[in-house]
Order: sequence, then C-alpha cells, then structure tokens
Amino acid sequence: MATAHLACLDGVVGPAADAKIPVTDWGLVRGDGIFEVLRLYDRRPFALEDHLERLQRSADNLRLPLDLDAIRTDVATLLEAAAADEPRGALRIIVTRGGRRILTTETLPQAAPSIALGTVTYAPTRLLDGIKSLSYAPNMLATRIAQLAGHDEALLVTPHGRVLEAPTSSIFWVSGGRLRTPPLEDHILASITRARVLELGDADERPGTLDELLAADEAFLASTTREIQPIAAVDGDALPLGGPVTADLAARLHERILSELA
Ligand SMILES: Cc1ncc(COP(=O)(O)O)c(C=O)c1O
Repeated sequence: MATAHLACLDGVVGPAADAKIPVTDWGLVRGDGIFEVLRLYDRRPFALEDHLERLQRSADNLRLPLDLDAIRTDVATLLEAAAADEPRGALRIIVTRGGRRILTTETLPQAAPSIALGTVTYAPTRLLDGIKSLSYAPNMLATRIAQLAGHDEALLVTPHGRVLEAPTSSIFWVSGGRLRTPPLEDHILASITRARVLELGDADERPGTLDELLAADEAFLASTTREIQPIAAVDGDALPLGGPVTADLAARLHERILSELA
C-alpha cells in the first residue's frame, strides 16, 4: 500500500496525517465522490490533462460540482511543496460530495516483476459507468478475497466468464499473434495507461473468456502506478513469462512516458 506524505486540503498544504474533514461529509458516509491517481516521476505528473479530463467526466456523470481551476492550482501548490527526491511517487486527487478538495502525495512501493491473479466474479454497476467514484469497496474486497486465497491480486470476471480487468488495472494478452484487451463497452474503466498501450500496439478490443486468457502466449496488467506488469499465473495456472510483445510494449510505454514528461 502507498504511504501518504503531504496533503493539500481545500488549497492548504500540510502533513497528510494532520488533514481533517468533517465526519458528516458524504464522501466518507456514502462513498459519494470521485478520485484520480497520477504517477509522479521526480515530482513531475504524467498525463495530468488526461487525468483532469477523466475527473471532469466523473464529476459530470456523478452530478458533482467540480472547480477544475481550483484543482489545477492545488496540484501546482502541492507539487511545489512535495519532496523533490521521490522517484516513485503518486498524486491522489479526491473530491467529495461535501465539497472538499483533497490532494495527497504518496510513495509507491516498487512493483513486483510479475503478478499472480485469482479470479473473482464481478458484475459492474452500470450506474457508475464512466465514474471513478469513491465507492471502491468492491474493488478492494476483490483484492482481499484473491489475496486470502493466496494470489497477489484479483482478476474480475463476469458471471458469464468474460474477463474484465483487475481492481486497479487493465488487462492485455497475446493470443494467435494478436494483442487483445476487453472493450470499454464491458463497463471497465477508461484507463489512461490502456489508451497509451492501444496507441503503441495494434490491439483488438473485444470480449475474451477466461479460457482464452489461460491459453494466451503472454499477458500483462497496465496501470498508472505499475505501467506494465507481466501476469505469471491465473488461479494457479502458470502463464508464459518473458514474451516479446510484453517486453517491447513495456519499454516503449516507458519511453513514451519519459518523452511526454520532457
Ligand atoms: C478499475 C480500474 N481499472 C483500470 C485502472 C488503470 O487506470 P489508469 O491507467 O488510468 O491508471 C484503474 C486505476 O486505478 C482502475 O481503478
């Protein structure tokens, strides 16, 4: 889990541990609010505009008032105050129904070289389509269930066996020489990393079953915090590691990130 350092609460910077909001805020009481997590590379945020656009879409869909200019100012204020020597950082932005703007900086643990997934049955809530909402308990529960069963992370699969995504990352796999990923129409998050990978690699966005994934030549997760992480196993069945497509995309995604930061 990431460790929070500084917070910017409604424009005021201080230690994250000291930042306080009223317990009556519906962001807490009902999970009624939105969030974003950006990666910081030496204090520079990657894909800030994409994250702010998604935050605005989330706010519009949740009918939540959002002052994007204030958020921009908060981001600049917090990054100015953030530690300059933080190579693996993250910036979290939260907006609550109570009208709070909460931004925190966090240190990310080093991602493992590969990850073992355990399937958890999950039917996405249609009402929350296009909303990165604070109601993330199902995602956190899925991870917990998978970890209690001895895996590293969950893989969300519909009751009809369609592979969706992981609780905080998108999934890709290679089969028959083609890169594959589930379509956004399957009610998965419009991941910013997924969009970059789709720009870099020629992929088919179409539904896939667990059996197809298990027979894949390569598979990986993609997200802001991990970039690309190879999948070593699903439900204890090993998947081939060290494939050329994953390695090539991981290298080119990282290059792309660095070039966008420059
Ligand atoms: C459900 C879900 N899918 C995918 C992702 C990856 O999205 P991004 O690439 O924008 O970090 C996340 C990120 O938190 C997520 O919560």
